[in-house]
Amino acid sequence: MKRVFVETYGCQMNVVDSETLMAILVAAGGFAAASSVAEADVVLLNTCSIRDNAEQRIWHRLDELGALKKRRKGLVIGLVGCMAERLREEILEQRPAVDIIAGPDAYRSLPELLRQAESGARGINTELSKEETYAEISPVRLDSNGVSAFVAIMRGCDNFCSYCVVPYTRGRERSRDPETILHEVGELFEAGYREVTLLGQNVNSYSFGSVDFPELLRRVAEVSPLLRVRFATSHPKDMSDRLLEAMAVLPNICRAIHLPAQSGSNRMLDKMNRKYTREWYLGRIAAIRRAMPDAAISTDIIAGFCGETPEDHADTMSLMREVGYEFAFMFKYSERPDTVAARTLPDDVPDVVKTARLAEIIALQNELSLASNRRDVGREFEILVEGTSRRSDEKVFGRTSQNKVVVIPRIGLDGQPHKPGDYVRVRVTDCSSATLQGEEI
Ligand code: 5AD
Ligand code: SF4
Repeated sequence: MKRVFVETYGCQMNVVDSETLMAILVAAGGFAAASSVAEADVVLLNTCSIRDNAEQRIWHRLDELGALKKRRKGLVIGLVGCMAERLREEILEQRPAVDIIAGPDAYRSLPELLRQAESGARGINTELSKEETYAEISPVRLDSNGVSAFVAIMRGCDNFCSYCVVPYTRGRERSRDPETILHEVGELFEAGYREVTLLGQNVNSYSFGSVDFPELLRRVAEVSPLLRVRFATSHPKDMSDRLLEAMAVLPNICRAIHLPAQSGSNRMLDKMNRKYTREWYLGRIAAIRRAMPDAAISTDIIAGFCGETPEDHADTMSLMREVGYEFAFMFKYSERPDTVAARTLPDDVPDVVKTARLAEIIALQNELSLASNRRDVGREFEILVEGTSRRSDEKVFGRTSQNKVVVIPRIGLDGQPHKPGDYVRVRVTDCSSATLQGEEI
């Protein structure tokens, strides 16, 4: 029996991919999940290419594992995921310790690649597929809290935002058979899970036969009223009124929408090939607020994209204020080789300027998050308990439908401790910009 440890970097899709490839290895026979590098015969790094610093971390990690391999003969090292897809040649040349390389669509061949590695040859497969969705595979849940799980509903991306490497590393967009999605969600619910997050690069363009995303969402929500349903990510250009209507009538679809704006400047949005304007985006925000006044809205923002002027940056800041985001992921632009931006637009905003603009964006978001949390003080919510608070064993934490974390005393009003998977009604009593404090009611 070979014990396999997967170290996952990057996005939520990579988390599911690690769980999926583990399911493939376990089903093949002769492999089992290890819980640390120390007890593993095989270490797989599931990698991310979205920004340069993500790749730098992996190069560094490969050096560490290479040193470990010198001391532990027979240790097998594999590199999988986006960076495997993008940099296979460079890795083969520069990191002799790497035994196998597999791209995001090549995980079914992992058992074979690992057998090759055992016989001394390097196992390599970075072929992309137009069909692969790993549809019938139920992931082995690694590192799970037993309450909440990611479910991939599609793979790849056809949007080609000019800065983004994803269409090149993950290939063309394809949707997974809804029957297999519903089967997996049903299994999760039976196993005690109470929240699923449906994942795709652009879930709003999900399409399989006659089933589109609003219909899929409705079917998943009908698995049980006790199951919370989340999804990510939505592209603003495809955020339809039908989706908002489907959400509004189903209370177990969470009131949280991640709608990445990237920039508030029409000039930047055009160069980014986002296919919408600031005005269209704000129109979608208004539609969300009409359909679900209590919805939380979050975003991704890129600071210092090609040719960004102080005015463009000011437009991003004013958009953030106008929307009043609950939460944001914020990044400095990082040029990715071979993307349209890298080929046609100079990366001309100096790093110090990017850093300064990002700092302003982060400071503004902290202010907006705090203001949003303060509005919640005194309000009542239902939270789904996930586990023990990081700060205190006497407390547990859960999330509201809006995806905000609330910390409450572990012992409930009935004298019993709250357990992961419990729903608890709470009133918010206090807050910081990151969390809410509450009490059961
Ligand atoms: N540089 C910086 N941020 C990027 N993102 C995608 N590509 C880049 C890049 N080249 C960000 C976008 C996207 C999120 C997943 O990562 O904001 O929504
Ligand atoms: Fe990248 Fe755009 Fe696709 Fe998101 S939608 S993965 S930012 S190309």
